[in-house]
Amino acid sequence: MIVDSLKENNFPNHVAIIMDGNRRWAEQRGLPRLEGHRNGLENMRSVVRYLGECHVKYVSIFAFSTENWNRPQDEVLGLLRLLEDRIDHEAREFHKRGVRLRHLGGLDGLSPHLRQAINSAVELTQNNPGMTLSFAFNYGGRSEIVNAARRIISDGIPPEKVDESLFRTYLYTNGMPDVDLLIRTGGELRISNFLIWQTAYSEYYFTEVLWPDFNEQEVDKALLAYSQRQRRFGRL
Ligand code: IPE
Ligand code: IPE
Ligand code: MG
Repeated sequence: MIVDSLKENNFPNHVAIIMDGNRRWAEQRGLPRLEGHRNGLENMRSVVRYLGECHVKYVSIFAFSTENWNRPQDEVLGLLRLLEDRIDHEAREFHKRGVRLRHLGGLDGLSPHLRQAINSAVELTQNNPGMTLSFAFNYGGRSEIVNAARRIISDGIPPEKVDESLFRTYLYTNGMPDVDLLIRTGGELRISNFLIWQTAYSEYYFTEVLWPDFNEQEVDKALLAYSQRQRRFGRL
């Protein structure tokens, strides 16, 4: 395991992942699109487990963006159904392993059943001591920021009190550290509106590997690349 050969201070505390490439993975195999998403979900479980073994404390996963509603209806419904079918089981499994689950994103537009399942998963695991796994579903970075600004105004906070440290407490990621390493699979070189505040000073790692193929060796490559970066935060 690569973690053993890297120095602790070269190790990310918070890893965010844009798991992209499910559809192309399925297409390459002549499978229906949803099979790609199903395999993507399986892979998420094993990557999260591995990152936990590597002592990464925060993992944030982009699973469905506010822009993904614009996909064909059958794909959107399929994705929602996949989550509905699996969320309770997955939540119980993560709970057994001491993982704390969080949801990043809005609940608007989701079925009452899904909303309730998301809330119960978060509640069930809220006091767990292990990794914090944040699941960005129905998430958009700009809308997160606009939503924060609205709540600051409706809470009647005076302008001079609004600074970065107050602002971040209004984000979905309240209480979490900034992202150290952002991984995007699937070959696109963009962040697609994911955690735009929280990745302002992150290291980026892009790979052509499609998400269902992103295995432990690929995680190691990303962690190794991160360990060789020099983070300066504007300093010398
Ligand atoms: C990412 O895979 C998963 C979601 C956006 C839900 P895609 O479905 O975007 O796969 P590609 O990028 O089209 O291959
Ligand atoms: C980003 O992937 C969103 C998720 C991985 C959930 P997309 O496939 O939707 O991103 P774009 O459209 O290529 O930017
Ligand atoms: Mg994609």
